[in-house]
Amino acid sequence: MAALPSNGNGTEQGDGNGNGASSPPGAVAPMVDLQELCHWYGEGEMRRQVLQRVDLRIHPGEVVLLTGPSGCGKTTLLTLVGGLRQVQQGRVTVMGKALEGSSRRRRQQLRRHIGMIFQGHNLLRCLTAEQNVQMGSDLLPGLSYRARRDQAREWLRAVGLGDHLGKLPHDLSGGQKQRVAIARALAAHPKLLLADEPTAALDSRSGREVVDLLKRLAREQSCAVLMVTHDPRILDVADRLVEMEDGRLRVAPPLLATS
Ligand SMILES: Nc1ncnc2c1ncn2[C@@H]1O[C@H](COP(=O)(O)OP(=O)(O)OP(=O)(O)O)[C@@H](O)[C@H]1O
Ligand SMILES: [Mg+2]
Repeated sequence: MAALPSNGNGTEQGDGNGNGASSPPGAVAPMVDLQELCHWYGEGEMRRQVLQRVDLRIHPGEVVLLTGPSGCGKTTLLTLVGGLRQVQQGRVTVMGKALEGSSRRRRQQLRRHIGMIFQGHNLLRCLTAEQNVQMGSDLLPGLSYRARRDQAREWLRAVGLGDHLGKLPHDLSGGQKQRVAIARALAAHPKLLLADEPTAALDSRSGREVVDLLKRLAREQSCAVLMVTHDPRILDVADRLVEMEDGRLRVAPPLLATS
């Protein structure tokens, strides 16, 4: 696989073993810090609690996988961390910024530093793969059009789509579209990557390549990764596995060392 385009974030590494809600002495500040996070949907009698006092810390360079049955609240958690929903109760601190009570504008600013890969690809249908990925770096300061285009090509090569740069989304398979969406998220040079089942539409080999890429991104660019997955084939990529059930988190037993 091709080398990762550099993001200029430096090479500071996370502690990689931040477990639960406590930070080891001397550790760098967490990228994500959730404290007693609760969330409800619906009104009146239909009001239903979907997140129950969730505590979670994720450090730079750490890959955390979130698993759990359908409907247990995983995507809701991701959207709260990504500033896509207003925090109702509890504390959400992302990159040192508290999101509770934050304005839409402030959350938008924060989202510039967050790469998001959500279910459904949300690619612009009239743009080629290369142009879609290039959009990911639109907001990066100081990069010329040409530099952004070259980086878009590098990211697409890194996800194995070097031969599909000029194709429109409708000429790509589901898995290829997913990889374009991944490349687009990475092109924004995120400090935090939120991924909702990024390998769901991929065959086993491409799924493995994508998670290996995300792991390298975490390691080489100190990006924290929070990834929802049902895919047992990729669990070994995690520094930490957390399981959700009925809106509650629990830390899964330690994983065997993988590298
Ligand atoms: N916008 C919404 N309005 C009302 N209820 C919602 C909304 N979004 C999600 N829910 C409900 O909240 C619960 C949690 O949904 P969520 O999408 O977070 O689950 P999930 O763990 O991501 O599930 P899956 O694995 O199927 O994607 C579900 O019962 C869902 O039906
Ligand atoms: Mg979901």
